Amino acid sequence: MDPTTLSTIVPSHTALPGLDVRVVTDLPDDIEAVAVPVTSDGDVPDSLGLDRDALRRAGFTGAIGSALALPVPSGPVLVATGIGEGDALTSALVRDAAAVFARAVPRDAALAVAVPSDAGVGVGEVTSAAIEGILLARHRWSLRTTDPAEVPVSRVVIVVAEESREAADEGVRRGLIGTRVSLLARDLATSPAYLLTAERMAEVATTIGVPAGLEVEVHDRASLETLGCGGLLGVNRGSAREPRMVVLHYRPEGEPSGHLALVGKGIMFDSGGISIKPGDESHSQMKNDMTGAGDVLAAMTGLRDLGCTAEVTGYLMCTDNMPSGTAMLLGDILTIRGGKTVEVLNTDAEGRLVMADALVLAAEAGADAIIDIATLTGACLRALGTRLAGVMGSSPEMVSQLEAAGATVDEPLWEFPVVDAYRKELDSDVADLRNIGGINAGQITAALFLREFVDGLPWAHVDIAGTAQAPAEDRWIRRGPTGFGARLLLETAVGFEVPSAE
Ligand code: BES
Ligand code: MN
Ligand code: ZN
Repeated sequence: MDPTTLSTIVPSHTALPGLDVRVVTDLPDDIEAVAVPVTSDGDVPDSLGLDRDALRRAGFTGAIGSALALPVPSGPVLVATGIGEGDALTSALVRDAAAVFARAVPRDAALAVAVPSDAGVGVGEVTSAAIEGILLARHRWSLRTTDPAEVPVSRVVIVVAEESREAADEGVRRGLIGTRVSLLARDLATSPAYLLTAERMAEVATTIGVPAGLEVEVHDRASLETLGCGGLLGVNRGSAREPRMVVLHYRPEGEPSGHLALVGKGIMFDSGGISIKPGDESHSQMKNDMTGAGDVLAAMTGLRDLGCTAEVTGYLMCTDNMPSGTAMLLGDILTIRGGKTVEVLNTDAEGRLVMADALVLAAEAGADAIIDIATLTGACLRALGTRLAGVMGSSPEMVSQLEAAGATVDEPLWEFPVVDAYRKELDSDVADLRNIGGINAGQITAALFLREFVDGLPWAHVDIAGTAQAPAEDRWIRRGPTGFGARLLLETAVGFEVPSAE
């Protein structure tokens, strides 16, 4: 695709290679800012030249989220960076602390982080979390023409003891993969719908996916008709733009350790259709309703680099959801791939319609497990807010693999039950299912709907309606689209174990 368009839509795809990240054993002379980790309880490192009392008087406690930049007559700015209680350090907290450090020096400074060999968390883990924290905190997708304060970080050095060099190198490698994957998902979700149409999404997937070692299959309208993908085609009916389904295949070298399918909701803009949304703040952000698909694409670009041993197939279900004279009407009945019929009683419950086709395709492809991810319900946002995503599933093992991965990458999940008793809310008089349940527990009835299409396979569903968008800058998260889910899926796929018969 046109390289200018590509770098407008996903600037971090091209910006990261220009980034200089190095592991050193001595601090280079030309470094401009150094993070000095300070706990909230133990001794203050000598290198700061200040004691705890002096730091306290300046309002710095050493808590996670606190940082104090100390200018010195010559040499790098020392940034006292709070890491909380010394023995409670986790890689998630390192990521948070590194993000706060990177924001304490908001210009194009060369940044250094000293990684101790005895932090309680491994050097590799600390390094990769620090890299992610710094880079994720300072990147922003923007077409602003004047923005002096917004300069991305271009140089980072990690200072370690000689014996930790190898671990730190590996940490840098992994941290850069996590960063790239997360930024890619963020860029895709930030890119406005007029730029990132379903057709463009397929082009981006091809342009980025092929060099990352993925096979990329693009299905246009004709192909979707042949496949009988009535859910995606139904939602697309009101749109002046073409739909696309993108199927991504990752095949590991050698015999795969399993086969995981990932399904992502790719609503490029959700107007609600004829059940049109009101014009409030949250609905103005509906260009991000393709975050699930962006997450799947982004995560899959990291599989080869992280040596994933499972075969992974990804489905990006892309269209916008628009009202028009040709749009789906209430009471219309769609036939999903595989033949199940759905009565549409609210055109704003469109995500589950496009996902259903892909769930059937994934089950037909003989996957060992299916994970789907979607900005699916306002109910999930109401229940959990913007910090945690909802997870539901038919497979406790898949749910716990996702939860473990989420804890590692700091994209946390909270499980809701899939309550069988609510299934009857989806009964229709004229079709196999209706596309909405009652007014309560919308995230659960949405999951019950999706479950109808997985043919009994181990399945888990991640609802990122709350976490896809951050209301304010917070740790490694910037205001706006977060890319939440991309590192989660990558970590889950790399650690994937075929669920035992449950
Ligand atoms: N994309 C929305 C869900 C959403 C809402 C995400 C707010 C982020 C913030 C989804 O397509 C939707 O409109 N869901 C409806 C479903 C309802 C009509 C059953 C909802 O949750 O209101
Ligand atoms: Mn909707
Ligand atoms: Zn939607």
